[in-house]
Amino acid sequence: MRRNCWLVACALLCCHMASFTQQPATRKASEGAVDERVSALLRKMTVAEKIGQLNQLDYPTHASDDRVRSGEIGAYLNLTDPVEINRVQRIAIEESRMHIPLLLGFDVINGYRTLFPISLAQAASWDPALVERVHAVIAEETSAVGLNWTFAPMLDIARDPRWGRIVEGSGEDPYLASAMATAKVRGLQGRELGTPGRILACMKHFAGYGSPVGGRDYDSVYLPEVQLQNVYLPPFHAAVEAGVGSVMSAYMALNDVPASGNTHLLRDVLRDEWGFRGFVVSDSWAIHTMKNEGYAKDFAQAGELALKAGENMDMGSETYFNYLPADFAAGDVSMRELDDAVRPVLRTKVVLGLFDHPYVNVSKTEAVLTNPSHRLLARRAAAETAVLLRNEDHTLPIAKSIRSIAVIGSLADDPAALMGSWPGKGVKKETVTVLAGIRERAGASVQVAYEPGVMLKREPQTELNSDVMGNNCTTADPVIEKAVAASMKADLTVLVMGEDASMNGEYGSRASIDLPGRQLELMQRVAKTGKPIVLVLVNGRPLNITWASTHFSSILEVWQPGTEGGHAVADLLFGDANPGGKLPVTWPRSTGQIPIYYAHNATKVNQESPDFKSFYWDEPTTPLYPFGYGLSYTTFKVHDLQLSETRIVGDGSLEANAIVENTGSVGGDDVVQLYIHQRAGSAVRPVRELKGFERVRLMPGESKTVRFRIGRKQLQFWSPATRAWGVEPGEFDVWVGDDSRASLRGSFVVTASSKSASLQAQESGTQHE
Ligand code: NOJ
Repeated sequence: MRRNCWLVACALLCCHMASFTQQPATRKASEGAVDERVSALLRKMTVAEKIGQLNQLDYPTHASDDRVRSGEIGAYLNLTDPVEINRVQRIAIEESRMHIPLLLGFDVINGYRTLFPISLAQAASWDPALVERVHAVIAEETSAVGLNWTFAPMLDIARDPRWGRIVEGSGEDPYLASAMATAKVRGLQGRELGTPGRILACMKHFAGYGSPVGGRDYDSVYLPEVQLQNVYLPPFHAAVEAGVGSVMSAYMALNDVPASGNTHLLRDVLRDEWGFRGFVVSDSWAIHTMKNEGYAKDFAQAGELALKAGENMDMGSETYFNYLPADFAAGDVSMRELDDAVRPVLRTKVVLGLFDHPYVNVSKTEAVLTNPSHRLLARRAAAETAVLLRNEDHTLPIAKSIRSIAVIGSLADDPAALMGSWPGKGVKKETVTVLAGIRERAGASVQVAYEPGVMLKREPQTELNSDVMGNNCTTADPVIEKAVAASMKADLTVLVMGEDASMNGEYGSRASIDLPGRQLELMQRVAKTGKPIVLVLVNGRPLNITWASTHFSSILEVWQPGTEGGHAVADLLFGDANPGGKLPVTWPRSTGQIPIYYAHNATKVNQESPDFKSFYWDEPTTPLYPFGYGLSYTTFKVHDLQLSETRIVGDGSLEANAIVENTGSVGGDDVVQLYIHQRAGSAVRPVRELKGFERVRLMPGESKTVRFRIGRKQLQFWSPATRAWGVEPGEFDVWVGDDSRASLRGSFVVTASSKSASLQAQESGTQHE
């Protein structure tokens, strides 16, 4: 019966998805006509009106009909009431002199009303098609309110889980993150900008924000060009190639130059190298804060520096509005520079169709926001993004014979914890908690007891706090004893541990990745019952679960799974869904191992040699769980790697294929991953790098041949020796498997073509195929 419900749900979902591929033809005007329309506007606009187009203000803090009417505001953020949106948009269009519509932006990071799993979780799906569908729904809901712009996708590579915003990105790997970037841009914007029911995307935070000193949010970032090019920029480049329409520059200084005033990033890389034609918005108040950072001597100079660097729109600070008129009058900013800044903003408004279709049909809004198919997709996405980290003795899925379950942990009954740090306009009471999901699925025949155990609070680890934190605590604590008693009485205990939504996200950095509060103590006490225990992790970053990894039978990482989180967790626990997600980050054993990532370089001695000394003597070298890792209720075997060629010329390609087989007894998903390594070249290359993947669904006994193309896109890198992208002749290793330790190995040789491939790349200036 339940299985039937699931099938019906999937069928409904498919119908819904089909509707995405049947978008009506767009009203895209030709490039020339757009440019002509923009030029015509610019010819008529005053300097004040032009500066107004660069001014984005917060709503309702700066709500002012008069200022919209006089053309002082080009965009709002955080205005989300559809009726108010139409009213304010009408003032801009019908009552301002130039009749220019407003851009209306909002942070819709993992959903508007229907919340999907947070971005890090989405990357764990390794399923770009799913992520594109999710973003199409996000766009549909957002545009149904009258918003036309969101500040997503967030494309910062993060290799330091102390940084709270690791939750908002796609993890540590440029190849996986680039695939996610492409999917998100396509989902949000549709096939082209201006597609009905879709919105303007904004890739952020350009660039390097994910690597702050010490993992502290907003702190300086130092990245050598080689790392910037090979690791941090590729997802942004992929988004530009997918047609992203806007960019948000980052808050911090990159190599001592604030991103908001960084001509190299905003002009040389973004416009000259990549050909980006959209507009750049600063992060909130980031133009103004260039003074605090000690880059601009005053706010007037901050505005001038940002404009000249290529920052089109000032989010929040009114630095442009307050100081550009004087800069212009003094001749420090020319009309040409001003027009160059305004042009992409106007162009975007034209291409989005805002001049022609500015208003939203409010009678339809609620129906779109509460469309049941969106929740079905959210449920499926939450199930697909979960990662099974451990499952001894087949503890999961829950046996049919089980009659009682103890659910322990305050996060089990906390809807906000499932919604993430950017909950959009998600509604707590519409969010299915883990406890509610388990109770609903368990039904009347299974008794479900609940104990919150220790409470979680975002607060510094004070001395008082740490006194009671570790396992040295001797005083019996009634809340812990109650949890232990509930566990004693139950056939199975589900411990729900992790972080609440306030503990990660923006300014959510931590000095330690230990489980916050007294959760370890609670876990250790409950473990003493000797009962089977399943640990469900609700969190937005890898946490120190090293102790749990050897003491609990099963560990299921469900991240912050969104509105349908509780249903999806129950689907997984009871076996209605089979976990198939894989880690998009390397999982450290302890804070001291950070940063740890799989695509590191080799050192002077091979890691397998007894002479290898590049380790901590008090911690293993390996992570707790490797990048790309995740278990299933079934088993898979990847075998028979074959390469179509063993020698190719530099600009050629080959195919690697391997068979993946479901060797277990239930259907499930595996993610087949391809890694390569260049043995020697003009620069040292990482020991292995992800260069292909495919999520495959197989029934028991079923197998499939997975094919990967290895060509320029997979082989090239940016070399500090040539200061260019290129493919170098040499020997390459290739591995295929289902995590980054893949051992099925082959090799091939790339020979020089008549003209060296590296040289060709320099000449064409291309990075991606
Ligand atoms: C600051 C954040 O860094 C950015 O990600 C967000 O989009 C803006 N504020 C607007 O809310």
